[in-house]
Amino acid sequence: MEALRLILRYAHLIGFALLLGGAIAQFVTAKLRINPAMLWGSIIQVLTGLALAAPLRGGGDDEPDPVKLAVKGIIAILIFIMVFVARKRTAVNRGHFLAIVGLTLVNAAVATFWR
Ligand code: HEM
Repeated sequence: MEALRLILRYAHLIGFALLLGGAIAQFVTAKLRINPAMLWGSIIQVLTGLALAAPLRGGGDDEPDPVKLAVKGIIAILIFIMVFVARKRTAVNRGHFLAIVGLTLVNAAVATFWR
């Protein structure tokens, strides 16, 4: 069970890297559009996050707060929808793009600081 949790967390961190890294790469070149790294990153985050939300620590007191997981789930689905609807646009609205980056940073903050 512990090995499964660690593998899922590893994949979860790679998904995070793809989503945020893909977005920052677009941002620094000033071409605000959705790239495949962002699309796959947002999909990986929802799927690995969902799997990580299972009681992989034996269901004891050290499981993550369900409210925290619900908040992360809602934000991740929102990010995925925002990435998905804009995936074919050659130029994405600045506000829309920055909201994707912002929500990604918020979810990483929720993961880190909400104990
Ligand atoms: C864009 C979406 C997401 C981002 C950026 C994100 C970010 C992160 C990060 C950075 C960590 C590592 C924290 C650490 O190791 O201390 C983490 C862990 C975790 N995330 Fe996410 N996450 C996202 C979506 C989700 C979703 C949708 C869920 C489930 C509803 C979820 C559930 C978890 C759980 C349970 C862990 C802890 C893994 C463990 O140590 O057992 N995440 N997340």
